[in-house]
Amino acid sequence: MKMHRLSPVGVFDSGVGGLSVLQHIRHILPHESLIYFADSAYAPYGDKSEADIIERCLAVAEFLQQKEIKAFVVACNTATAAAIKTLRAHYPDLIIIGMEPGLKPAALLSKEKIVGVMATQFTLQSDKFKQLKNHLATETNVHFEEQACVGLVNQIEKGELRSIATLRLVRQFVTPLLQSGADTLVLGCTHYPFVTGLIEQVIREYHAEQGTPEKIVQIVDTGVAVALQLQRLLEQGGLSLQAIQRPPTLRAYTTSSKSSLRNAFSQLLKIPDSALDIAAIAEMPSAVSTC
Ligand code: DGL
Repeated sequence: MKMHRLSPVGVFDSGVGGLSVLQHIRHILPHESLIYFADSAYAPYGDKSEADIIERCLAVAEFLQQKEIKAFVVACNTATAAAIKTLRAHYPDLIIIGMEPGLKPAALLSKEKIVGVMATQFTLQSDKFKQLKNHLATETNVHFEEQACVGLVNQIEKGELRSIATLRLVRQFVTPLLQSGADTLVLGCTHYPFVTGLIEQVIREYHAEQGTPEKIVQIVDTGVAVALQLQRLLEQGGLSLQAIQRPPTLRAYTTSSKSSLRNAFSQLLKIPDSALDIAAIAEMPSAVSTC
């Protein structure tokens, strides 16, 4: 496996959610070239079986490995819960970074010791999540209230970040967490940071109705932590770029429509076409979907 300082970092999600992690990587590691992979034809992963998710993750990892990436960021909690062990076993020499819901930071932040966790059905039912939750519940005495947000990923994939339908869904998911007394909410899916505005709106409305408008609810997202972990591991491996050696590139691939991904970069990250190597996306669909 060829690995070089100048090689790109691969960032992967079932769809556009991983862009919430990519934005932190671009901030923290501005000199690195990046390849983003959206497996949008197969999104959402959250209602798929473990075997199906593992198969997709291996196909994507193989594709990106052929692009000679120096690190692989699984910017998807669901894919991490299902496939991180298998990926590490298949690519023992590659830096692989996964995501997990930020229960630990949330437990530290929560004064009421009640934390709401928003994630996909798959993530919440996974052994990895249950182990983390049980361990932290015992260690910190914090109660974790879970909420599977079925359908929210689809709304975000459609670009409906502020629609009435999305607001209704967010209200349906967030209200029970607030009713349980949660003062801290974990965004356990990389798509959800893109509806933080709606989540905050529901929190404000709820506490205004309860006559407790002064109550503060903290929202925890682990995107920055993952970008910092990538920075650490690249440095440890002697693979980080400290300064511009050549202009960093940004390429993206999707198993679905190029124009949707182009719109997502522009709508979610304000990255224009001119800064994105979208020509390469066209090579993608058959190469991976046939794996
Ligand atoms: N962004 C993925 C995650 O973090 C979404 C999962 C899905 O596709 O359902 O879990």
